Amino acid sequence: MEFAPLTSQNGESHRLRYPIMESAFAGDRMVPYSEIMLREALRLRDKCRPDTVVDIQDEFANYAWACIIGSYLGRDVDFPYSVGKRVVAYLRLHMMLQFLPGTRLLASLPLPTLTKGERASKALDDRIYAAIRRAREDPSHDGHDVVSHFVRAGEQGIVDWTFANDRAIRDEVLVLCGYVDGPIGALTLAVYYLGMNPAVRDRLEQEVDEVVGGRPIDVADFDRLTYTQAFCRELLRIDPPTYVSLPKVTAEDVVLGGYFIPKGTLMHSAPKVVGHRAEYWDKPDEFRPERWLDDPRAGCPPCPAHSYVPFGSGPHTCIGGGLATRMIVYGVATLAQRLRLDPQSDRIPEVSNVGATVLGRTPVAVKERR
Ligand code: HEM
Repeated sequence: MEFAPLTSQNGESHRLRYPIMESAFAGDRMVPYSEIMLREALRLRDKCRPDTVVDIQDEFANYAWACIIGSYLGRDVDFPYSVGKRVVAYLRLHMMLQFLPGTRLLASLPLPTLTKGERASKALDDRIYAAIRRAREDPSHDGHDVVSHFVRAGEQGIVDWTFANDRAIRDEVLVLCGYVDGPIGALTLAVYYLGMNPAVRDRLEQEVDEVVGGRPIDVADFDRLTYTQAFCRELLRIDPPTYVSLPKVTAEDVVLGGYFIPKGTLMHSAPKVVGHRAEYWDKPDEFRPERWLDDPRAGCPPCPAHSYVPFGSGPHTCIGGGLATRMIVYGVATLAQRLRLDPQSDRIPEVSNVGATVLGRTPVAVKERR
């Protein structure tokens, strides 16, 4: 199957497409997505029953997937992760084969993950096309989902460039579903870092108690949960789900950090490496959310901008950073409000060699906190 999502575009075609993608995740559009996340966070908490052991990665996968499907296709749309994960595995492999040099031919072979994933993606296609039809044909539909934005943003004058046809919208939405991996990995590691850093966990729980107490968390609490946000930033510094960005080819000769790099060189940036450079970070291997609160410019540690790039930088900066951050903050805070999750091993969960995917099982003991 061939598709050409935002990430694979460069130059002018990327510049034209970026605004419709970016604006789908900006400003007030985040409010309905946040409501879906909070609803799903309560479902996640209900599934973590006190005095049981759960595989927390599985639970986070269901949570993050439901957040994504609801935000993209509409709050009333459901699609099980048990099928979705085959689509995600397919997209992951497809993306790797498309981007890694010399592997494009493999993408055309009938590899089992590709054929099974393609079959599973047909089921998801039906939901995506139904969401497109609804956005086009039902003027009473609220339009609070990503698909509606893709269908309507041009007519509403929000952007100049729009998708040529429904197939192009479906391709982009399908690929966006694959970005569920980052939040799943980050949330799974969040539980590990909370478990290994009791003082951080205590302070986070205290903040949730003070800001939210026993009432349901609401969308506006995001801005009030400053320590939980600092925790999220620190998590994405110490263990960014994307260790290494997708390859880029230099468009001209350039000198970077004293090295001459000729035009046409394949380059990666490495958010994990820069997030650990001792010249930028005080005690970089320590997990210390407080470093994000030291600086009066909220959320800016004393470091150069390019030493903190979990969401990339430049023209290909992640458009889903706000969505992912909220998924983490709402998920962690909702769990911490009532529960404490103790990892059953003090070894950090193993991740794939480019980050993002946590490998193996991640059992945690669930205890009631309040
Ligand atoms: C913690 C979770 C996430 C992390 C750490 C992350 C990280 C990144 C990074 C580092 C890039 C830049 C890649 C490059 O330079 O090639 C990127 C790009 C991108 N991300 Fe994310 N991401 C996350 C979640 C999401 C989510 C939930 C979405 C869904 C909307 C998303 C959508 C995208 C898209 C569409 C791009 C491509 C942008 C472009 O090429 O112009 N990401 N992400």
